[in-house]
Amino acid sequence: KKKIAVMTSGGDSQGMNAAVRAVVRAGIFHGCDVFAVYEGYSGLVHGKDLIKKMEWEDVRGWLALGGTLIGTARCAEFRERWGRLAGAKNMITNGIDALVVCGGDGSLTGADLFRAEWPSLVEELVRKGEFTEEEVAPYKHLTIVGLVGSIDNDMSGTDSTIGANSSLERIREMVDYIDATATSHSRAFVVEVMGRHCGWLALNAGIATGADYIFIPERAANPLTWKEELKEVCRRHREKGRRKTTVIVAEGALDSDLRPITSEDVKNVLVDLGLDTRITTLGHVQRGGTAVASDRLLATLQGVEAVKAVLDLTPEDPSPLIGILENKIVRQPLVDAVKLTKSVATAIESKDFDKAISLRNTDFIE
Ligand code: F6P
Repeated sequence: KKKIAVMTSGGDSQGMNAAVRAVVRAGIFHGCDVFAVYEGYSGLVHGKDLIKKMEWEDVRGWLALGGTLIGTARCAEFRERWGRLAGAKNMITNGIDALVVCGGDGSLTGADLFRAEWPSLVEELVRKGEFTEEEVAPYKHLTIVGLVGSIDNDMSGTDSTIGANSSLERIREMVDYIDATATSHSRAFVVEVMGRHCGWLALNAGIATGADYIFIPERAANPLTWKEELKEVCRRHREKGRRKTTVIVAEGALDSDLRPITSEDVKNVLVDLGLDTRITTLGHVQRGGTAVASDRLLATLQGVEAVKAVLDLTPEDPSPLIGILENKIVRQPLVDAVKLTKSVATAIESKDFDKAISLRNTDFIE
């Protein structure tokens, strides 16, 4: 009987519970034993009651719940070899040789490295007398499958990450609230949104709410002209009769000298224009709460596909990332997606912003 473990790792995102539920139920449906690893990689390292066999009923009602009910962590111990060795030991002790990880690119890169290192970890466990050769014989190969759970939508190889649309919808709702009070007082608001180094949330939120101006890292502002351009656009909108001004700033916004553009910088420009201006940093409301229908659906379809991948894969196949491209659930090599994601960061660092945009899911802005 195949034994599969599922974990959530890194920052939580809406839809992670739906993904875990889908893996648990699809696994049971296909005759597997499914385990949940609690607290991300920390659960693998410490084992015991942090690795729990799941039954069909254990995930009842999880679709509609926010956060991740099996916990998550950004785990430093797993970055050390001793932590990964402890993780391998706990997996073999529980008879597990397949791991479905739902997390961001850091968590998924970690998972793929774990797989690459697995044979040497197993060897070391035998050398240390933890297991005999016979005991580890069925565990010569580790299967890893990645699901991208992140509000940032910053992973290449998938049009949407699990949580991105819920977060966008939350931002949309908050900006609508802000717009009402902004219009009442004829004020300007600078709304800072998450996304780490990715502008997807800011860009889409700005378009969905009809913001006056949007700052994102991939479309770095000209350091010499952005202040005047911002003033000009906002002034023009006011002259046309608009009673409010809304500027959406991605937390990773930059100018083309790679200097951060902060909400405070933007506020100062609007104040200079004579506008009564406030900053609202939305923070973790963007990550909490329940998932929108499309994220529940995405997580469910991808969770089912992850189990199928575990059952289909041969040891020669590369670890897959389950994504969605042009409305189809697809598998592709995890390493390729990670490499492409890193190339966006490199493009930004080398100030090749056109390339950064073309590699992101923001490429429709050109
Ligand atoms: O990656 C998800 C994310 O919410 C980013 O948008 C944000 O920069 C970061 O995590 C915040 O991390 P933390 O929850 O650890 O403060």
